Amino acid sequence: MPDTFYITTPIYYVNDVPHIGHAYTTVAADATARYMRLIGREVFFLTGTDEHGQKVEKTALSKGMTNKEFVDSVAPRYMELWKTLGISNDDFIRTTEARHVKAVQSLFSLLLEKGDIYKGEYEDWYCVPCESFWTTLQLKEGGRCPDCGRPVDKIKEESYFFRMSAYEQALLDHIEKNPGFIMPESRKNEIVSFVKSGLRDLSISRTSFTWGIPVPGDERHVIYVWLDALTNYISALGYPDTSGRYRKFWPSDVHVIGKDILRFHAVYWPTFLLAAGLPLPKRIFSHGWWTISGEKMSKSRGNVVDPFEVVREMDELGLGVDAFRYFLLREVPFGLDGDFSKDAMSVRINSDLANDLGNLHFRTLNMIEKYLGGFVPAYERPGSGEEAEVFACLEGLFMKYSEKMEAQSFSEALQAVWQAVSMANKMIDHAAPWELAKGETPEDKKRLLTVLGVASGVVRAACILLYPVMPEKMQMVWEQSGENVLLSKVKLKADGTLVVQTDEVEEDTKTVFFIPPKVNRVRRGPAPFPRIETDAVKAKKAASEAGGNIKAASKAEKQALPGRPAAAPPDSNEKIAASPEAGGLIKIDDFMKVDLRTGRVLAAERVPKSDKLIKMSVDIGTETRQIVGGIGKSYSPEELVGRTVVVVANLKPAKLMGVESQGMLLAAGDVDSLRLAGFDAEVKTGTKVK
Ligand code: MSP
Repeated sequence: MPDTFYITTPIYYVNDVPHIGHAYTTVAADATARYMRLIGREVFFLTGTDEHGQKVEKTALSKGMTNKEFVDSVAPRYMELWKTLGISNDDFIRTTEARHVKAVQSLFSLLLEKGDIYKGEYEDWYCVPCESFWTTLQLKEGGRCPDCGRPVDKIKEESYFFRMSAYEQALLDHIEKNPGFIMPESRKNEIVSFVKSGLRDLSISRTSFTWGIPVPGDERHVIYVWLDALTNYISALGYPDTSGRYRKFWPSDVHVIGKDILRFHAVYWPTFLLAAGLPLPKRIFSHGWWTISGEKMSKSRGNVVDPFEVVREMDELGLGVDAFRYFLLREVPFGLDGDFSKDAMSVRINSDLANDLGNLHFRTLNMIEKYLGGFVPAYERPGSGEEAEVFACLEGLFMKYSEKMEAQSFSEALQAVWQAVSMANKMIDHAAPWELAKGETPEDKKRLLTVLGVASGVVRAACILLYPVMPEKMQMVWEQSGENVLLSKVKLKADGTLVVQTDEVEEDTKTVFFIPPKVNRVRRGPAPFPRIETDAVKAKKAASEAGGNIKAASKAEKQALPGRPAAAPPDSNEKIAASPEAGGLIKIDDFMKVDLRTGRVLAAERVPKSDKLIKMSVDIGTETRQIVGGIGKSYSPEELVGRTVVVVANLKPAKLMGVESQGMLLAAGDVDSLRLAGFDAEVKTGTKVK
């Protein structure tokens, strides 16, 4: 594996205020950059601002500023946002910087020299707000912009063209030979059919505005936005100087972008590079879009979510920026669209961070203090019991997690960590260290040490593996667990052992990452993940105060139903049938064979050619399932995203119109008026329904 890694975000338009969409791309890139540093790669992480174009010229004019004054006033806002979000970029490129102008002009000159740029006349429909040209065929009904629906203008002007048509086959060949070039796979198919439908030459200069990089030798023209913007990925490396940073980091390992700008990255950019004889990026990952309560986010709808505001609120709750980062990366599989709402965020934070991880950390630390004088026990592979299962899970965890992080499947990487967390919580519940502490036998004492050792091992593993997503909070938990070094100095080797950098010396601990190399003493501190008191939670509390102790009742219930009968899949030969002797009644054991759980719909879309079937991606706590439901006449996909549903999780997978369904949702009613089963207050995803 090469030891360098180059990752980029798009450069953001300065005529927009930063919103959660921008935050999403950058947080995702940051988590990947931090993960790559964790596994010891030398990372170059680039972000920046896209500052030229007619729209900027217009906005500056409307504000009574010069173009330069305007861009200089907005770019720092992005820099500030990245600081607020804990982004660890190594450079910030602005397209108005001299180093960028130089790179763009030399790339233009090179393509001109090679005969791939020629002068012609451009005539097409132009949408000013979108800065996009459209052919007549592409226009919406009534001759409107297919993106924003606003009127377009016919424009005819002299223009330089890039001979993109000449690279159609070379691009198709490259896509075919490099399966990971465009991710996710579904997006690749979209690009392949676009290229196969024929590439037109691309207009790359304008005379109709002046705020841009002048065409070398023909200053009436400015270089049109995409050739300018895309070149940032090499101008920040020092291009046209191809030694130094460029030699070290080009080609980039991944350009992280949103699905709206995939075509520019997967068609324009590679063809420019092919023409210039430069290597192509290794991967272009296009993520989905966030809607806000089911609606597209836009200034005109007034529903733009300000990330500064979200972080401020999270800070006030004691959760900080990391809870927001976690939500963005855990809630929706990277690549799919998702819906953002504060309620969804509270549910996710309460269930995963406060209840699962926070609780594991808190109770482990508490018990280590109470029963072991504050010293984290050294532990070895346990011989038996649930602690042996948790240990085995930890042994496989790094591989599982890193495979998902390499593929930028953040939600799955996080789920893998949460599997260990939830196993550890169950181990504590069942092993009851508070009882072991009372025990007199050496076995009790030994088991107490092992159970608390393994539990603290899971917290330790979580600190290291979750650091790329939640750098601040994991450092805090790490220190409370008795560690002193900075997690940013901790490197994981391929075999899962740790290297720690102290005072410029690298120390190979030779210990696997989930076992501390030295004796640590825990330090009590503030709770890293306080619970959010949502209205639903408050209402539940009020009800419980009025109507008796709900906690005590549920504890009693737990005792009445020992074990986890329904979590185990039923024997496939056994039929759940009412026995005739029982007069059509089934026993509780039969009912318990059905694994009913709460799930959250992360994404939904209609199955093509069906008005009834909807394909959903449903988080069931331990994993994400693809479920196809016949609810399309009663629900739209948008209404489903974010909803809590009841899932039959141990149903044999079946194919509906060729699409696999790995479960079933509970609903009542006729096909046209189906209602999904739900709950009257917030319920954690993955909770057993019984
Ligand atoms: N300037 C161009 C990119 C040039 S890269 C050489 C641009 N800028 S942008 O500011 O409009 O968008 C930047 C990124 O924000 C894109 O990746 C886009 O997908 C992302 N998002 C904008 N709105 C979004 C959502 N609602 N949801 C998720 N991401 C979205 O395009």
